[in-house]
Amino acid sequence: MSVLAQIKNHYAVIGNPIAHSVSPQIHTLFARQTQRNIDYTRLLAAVDNFNGALDSFIESGAKGANVTVPFKLDAFARCDKLSRRAQFAGAVNTLSFGAEDKLILGDNTDGIGLVRDITHNYDVALGQKNILILGAGGAVRGILQPFFEEKPAHIFIANRTPEKAKALADEFSELGDISAGGFESIPQIPFDIIINGTAASLSGDTPPIDQAIVRNRFCYDMVYGKAPTAFLQWATEAGARQAVDGLGMLVEQAAESFLIWEGVRPDTQPVINALRN
Ligand code: ATR
Repeated sequence: MSVLAQIKNHYAVIGNPIAHSVSPQIHTLFARQTQRNIDYTRLLAAVDNFNGALDSFIESGAKGANVTVPFKLDAFARCDKLSRRAQFAGAVNTLSFGAEDKLILGDNTDGIGLVRDITHNYDVALGQKNILILGAGGAVRGILQPFFEEKPAHIFIANRTPEKAKALADEFSELGDISAGGFESIPQIPFDIIINGTAASLSGDTPPIDQAIVRNRFCYDMVYGKAPTAFLQWATEAGARQAVDGLGMLVEQAAESFLIWEGVRPDTQPVINALRN
């Protein structure tokens, strides 16, 4: 092991609740694989005390942190510098703490994590494709700019509250061809890829859209669970070509954070396999 590798870097994932987070497991596997000397813990912050928890963590000599629900907007507000993708996402999931200048740098690796899972792990290209995205909350906002980097033909955002989808489409229209509306106004064009970015699966709800839309198509649910989500069950019944959950996105966003901090991108497939089992 090199001298450099012996210096221990400290990281954590900050959220509330946080006990369920598998990020420590993922980063520990990354570190073992790349022979980095790190520790990575869970940090529970009171909902009204993100900044206090962050300050203590930085003072302890930490090098970086991931941020999860409900603090991604607080993290965004707190940063001294933001990456371009964090600016577009309006949220931060990866913080780096400058050792000398003490500046807090914010990035967002969620969108690139999703893009990498789809394009690398499932070998599905996004370029020149028609993409239907369900939902218009923070999760969807976070993926739009990385999606446009892949040069899709068109993105349609459908949401229960159409105004929210339209506002999002307006905001991102400078990046590419995008339109939006309610579930009933999804255009009659063949969509190659359907992404569920709503929180509906969490309450067991399925999208109120025609099953013909997903037949023979690639379907992705941004959430994951031990059992297939409500959306994935629905898509499979409808005859989707493939219906996959967001576990790979979780591991890929972590790999991008690890790359930012440790300068090396771990091999994600063995980690995805380990979590799957
Ligand atoms: P997140 O940050 O996880 O995206 P959010 O900002 O609360 O969370 O957004 C949740 C998304 O899931 C929204 O698009 C929401 O639709 P509305 O904008 O109409 O609220 C969507 N959503 C939540 N529950 C849903 C359900 N049961 N059916 C359909 N859409 C749902």
